[in-house]
Amino acid sequence: MILYDNENLEQQRLKDVTGKTLAALEAGIDDEKLVIALEPEAASIFCQYQEDKRASNERSLLNRTGQKYMIIDLGGGTADITIHERQPKGDDKLPLLKELHHAIGDDCGGTQVDNAFMEVLGEILGQKLITLMKKKQPSSYLELLREFETVKRREITNKNYLRIPLVTINELIEELEQENIDNKIKMSKYKNQIKRNREKLCIDDELMKSFFGPTIERIVSLVKDTSKIKAIRDISLFLLVGGFSECKNVLHALKKALPNKTFIVPEEAGLSVLKGAVIFGHKTSIIGSRFMIYSYGTKVFEPFDPELHEMSRKKKAGGRYICPKIFDFIVMKNDSVPVGTTIKREYLTDEPQQNFMDLDLYKSDSELTKYTNEEGCYRVCEAKIDIPDPSEEQRTVEVEYYFGDTEIRMTAVETDSGKSCKTVWKFI
Ligand SMILES: Nc1ncnc2c1ncn2[C@@H]1O[C@H](COP(=O)(O)OP(=O)(O)OP(=O)(O)O)[C@@H](O)[C@H]1O
Ligand SMILES: [Mg+2]
Repeated sequence: MILYDNENLEQQRLKDVTGKTLAALEAGIDDEKLVIALEPEAASIFCQYQEDKRASNERSLLNRTGQKYMIIDLGGGTADITIHERQPKGDDKLPLLKELHHAIGDDCGGTQVDNAFMEVLGEILGQKLITLMKKKQPSSYLELLREFETVKRREITNKNYLRIPLVTINELIEELEQENIDNKIKMSKYKNQIKRNREKLCIDDELMKSFFGPTIERIVSLVKDTSKIKAIRDISLFLLVGGFSECKNVLHALKKALPNKTFIVPEEAGLSVLKGAVIFGHKTSIIGSRFMIYSYGTKVFEPFDPELHEMSRKKKAGGRYICPKIFDFIVMKNDSVPVGTTIKREYLTDEPQQNFMDLDLYKSDSELTKYTNEEGCYRVCEAKIDIPDPSEEQRTVEVEYYFGDTEIRMTAVETDSGKSCKTVWKFI
């Protein structure tokens, strides 16, 4: 099974031991050839690679051994942060990187700017019209978005011109309420900020900036909050990558908010994720270790011990007192796990002739979780492990968990025979 434990903090995908990943399957890619790359990591690798190629540049900061830096990947949907330290080069002369803190992110990407614009347009023309345009005239709707994308990439001036699908808009307005676009603008609270001239809207700088404002503010607070984290407070080099890092206003706002830090937007900042992912695909060991975003564990029970367990959890089972639903840590949040680390756990059968075993994997957002039904602890997948050749004896299954990679994998083996167990994993 593979869980994609990515920096987005939410998305996790899985596959079964013998099968293909869902993504690989859908894309028709051989599973063995599919490697998941984390976006800020990929960008970091590319920036290092670029610096190494310019080895003669003595002013270069990034590729000094021991250099610590923050990579801020500003994309369309999210802003993702990773903190790396440059390690001495490996034998193959490729850079090596160590993660210094687990990845951090928020959903404040460039698309939020588009949404802000569409919201204002919806206020002027009516949300109904926007919905109708999407449904009846999708090409006009896409044209409008594309046009805004072009305007968004330009420097903001007093007058920002945006071409609109005027005929379509007027047709839709008439269909809905016998009006026209100019009246709609006049009746809106934006009448002094937006004017129409033929097929173009002229948007003033204040309104234009307001589309960017909330997203930039959220990016700034995310970076500011991250830079206050004790373990990484001393980091002063910040790299901006991803498409939205090309927006000058983001860089200005960050520099203003954090004047003592050095911000660099490397060459090809928008493409660095993509190019870095290709390098990572050739050598995944460039990243030597990663921090766990969550704690992972299984559910076990223990003989009840009043010193250790909450009284309310005391249960009688099989003639003795136990404490059920204990969170048994496999890895702990904030652990730095070297890539390729494997952790073994043994599980015993409960009864003779038992032919399968259920195993649930839980994740928690704390290092202190004690019980699997505590707040912040969730079951992420359930496994059915077949016991080969069931017998009267108690059997032991050894499960090996692989952590530190961009995916979490597990395999199960029956210890006496050494046979691997057929396992079906179900993602929840
Ligand atoms: N010059 C520019 N000025 C402003 N915004 C820009 C510029 N260039 C690209 N963008 C914005 O960057 C975003 C796309 O960035 P990128 O390609 O890194 O996103 P992504 O990787 O697809 O998204 P995510 O990382 O969130 O999954 C879009 O919102 C786009 O409008
Ligand atoms: Mg991205």
